[in-house]
Amino acid sequence: MVYTPGRKSFTAVAINTAAKAGEWILSKLGNYSSLKTKYSPHDLVTEVDQGSEKLIRRLIQTHFPEHSFLGEEGVEPGPEASAKAVESVMNDEYLWIIDPIDGTTNFVHGFPFFSVSIALAYRGEIIVGVIYDPSRDELFVAEKGKGAYVRGRRMQVAPQQKLSESLLATGFPPNRDALGSNIKGIQALVPKVRNIRSAGSAALHLAYVAAGRLNGFWEIGLNAWDIAAGALLVQESGGLVTDTAGNPYTLAVRNVVASNGHIHDELLSELSAANATGQ
Ligand code: IPD
Ligand code: CA
Ligand code: CA
Repeated sequence: MVYTPGRKSFTAVAINTAAKAGEWILSKLGNYSSLKTKYSPHDLVTEVDQGSEKLIRRLIQTHFPEHSFLGEEGVEPGPEASAKAVESVMNDEYLWIIDPIDGTTNFVHGFPFFSVSIALAYRGEIIVGVIYDPSRDELFVAEKGKGAYVRGRRMQVAPQQKLSESLLATGFPPNRDALGSNIKGIQALVPKVRNIRSAGSAALHLAYVAAGRLNGFWEIGLNAWDIAAGALLVQESGGLVTDTAGNPYTLAVRNVVASNGHIHDELLSELSAANATGQ
């Protein structure tokens, strides 16, 4: 990793920024004034999402004005537009990838499971990932090659070896074209695992896989900002992240499978057998 002398480290800026944004979001819980829909009636945005992104952008650009920035609220809604936006910047030298509130529906309803997700990629490879859950004051941090931490403790994925011993999570994407695949996956997997959760923040689900609280997570139809920071957290905690066909994770992946590694092949083959890979 390249550090410029005399400047704050990338990770320090990511942590500070996520903490500030998260604190501000929490102060606005139950107190937003504008609620709009974007691509579909399930795709919500408030002025708090936009304000959080502005705050994050301002803080990051203060330290690294020459870096590129990809934030959910700066991109046209919808799967095609977001795929194009990712493609246009994914090989930039330094790229910050931001979800200013992951779990906006939860934020709107006062369900305390939402997060700020901040990742930094160097030529397409994630080198820093930070996810902050302000409701629990939990900060998840990973640096490429240096491990991942929560509350200052090194994280390790869960030890379970079999799908039948697993607690999984998934989500319901606002793009309803992807929903059918997710439902097929749930139908096939529920009888085969201990249980499945869908708590409404893909970023936090990934952080929970890293922390060993979940054995695996999959979702069809996500965006780069939902996955980027969480993918590094899982990898640096000893887990595995691929697309639903088993290809290695890249910023272009939208159909994601993350696990403790042990159950990965079983999970991939169940999704494939159920025609639930989104491909
Ligand atoms: C959503 C959340 C949710 C997932 C959706 C995402 P947003 O992000 O991560 O858990 O199921 O697919 O779009 O819109 O709250 O940032
Ligand atoms: Ca999101
Ligand atoms: Ca969001």
